[in-house]
Amino acid sequence: MVYHIPWIYTPVRSVLAIWHQLTKAEIPELAKCSVLMRDRSRVEDTIYAMQRAGAGRLQVISDFDMTLTRFAHNGKRVPTTHNILDHRLLIDEDCSKKIRELLNTYYPIEIDAGRTAEDKLPLMVEWWTQVHELLIQQRIRKDLLAQAVKESSAMLREGYKVFFDRLTEQQVPLLIFSAGVGDVLEEVIRQNNVFYPNVHIISNYMDFDQTGVLRAFQGQLIHTFNKREGALSHASGLRVLQGRPNVLLLGDSLGDLTMADGVSEHQNILTIGFLNDQMDERKELYVKSFDVVLVKDETMEVPNAILKYITSSTDNKLDA
Ligand code: TMP
Ligand code: MG
Repeated sequence: MVYHIPWIYTPVRSVLAIWHQLTKAEIPELAKCSVLMRDRSRVEDTIYAMQRAGAGRLQVISDFDMTLTRFAHNGKRVPTTHNILDHRLLIDEDCSKKIRELLNTYYPIEIDAGRTAEDKLPLMVEWWTQVHELLIQQRIRKDLLAQAVKESSAMLREGYKVFFDRLTEQQVPLLIFSAGVGDVLEEVIRQNNVFYPNVHIISNYMDFDQTGVLRAFQGQLIHTFNKREGALSHASGLRVLQGRPNVLLLGDSLGDLTMADGVSEHQNILTIGFLNDQMDERKELYVKSFDVVLVKDETMEVPNAILKYITSSTDNKLDA
């Protein structure tokens, strides 16, 4: 057999290797030192397969707080949707103090690499339930939410506009799946002019009485570690996501990895994790869990580059 003759076999193998390299995704941003990958080759193969299938087969599922929003800016933490509600117009000082104490108690638990998700789950329910009860007691007014968002230091990640614009241009649905507060989340993206029709949101929505005063939260509580249930009960039923078996998933918490569990007959899933905090303690776990890990990267540069590649048609690619 010709393949067993070494001097022929070697060139054949090299040609095959070069051909394989050429067909793989070429994304220079993946070479940045802030990008970690457990299996670079698999990442490239997945991106390439998603590109071949095209934008029409793609959906993007993203977490919101600390994924689409920045973690910090100029050395200061950027507020989450819950923290935006910590505004003098909406809640009094005593409530603000209690919510901050709860954050200081439970956030370290949320990100503790030494505890399992099962351990954390009841504690997250405790955190969210207490905060929501405190907010309800404050009788928050719906008509003041927009002003609180405007006066907050909420900030989407650098490059967010390219991300939202690209998805809308390519008619790719973006599912934002957040354990934050839906009404506040909507206001943040509205004020940043990216609340486009292809954006769908699953989150904790406020329930207001007839006079516009908060009286409860709607539906089942979503916290960081029960997104799988929400994915199965809500996301799987969204018609706009049907027939799109390729998923680009973005998150900052390990709990975010279950956001695509409701996608039936998925073909390719690429998970991107922002590692914002406790880098040394969590790096190994994140690299094991997400396909691509972005360490202390406050930008959308890498997701945008991947998205651009996936949504570029083969013709465009050959023309370039
Ligand atoms: P996410 O699912 O959009 O990331 O939103 C959940 C984040 O919200 C989670 O990482 C913790 C954060 N959070 C607060 O900052 N303050 C709070 O009071 C609560 C309950 C959650
Ligand atoms: Mg988050």
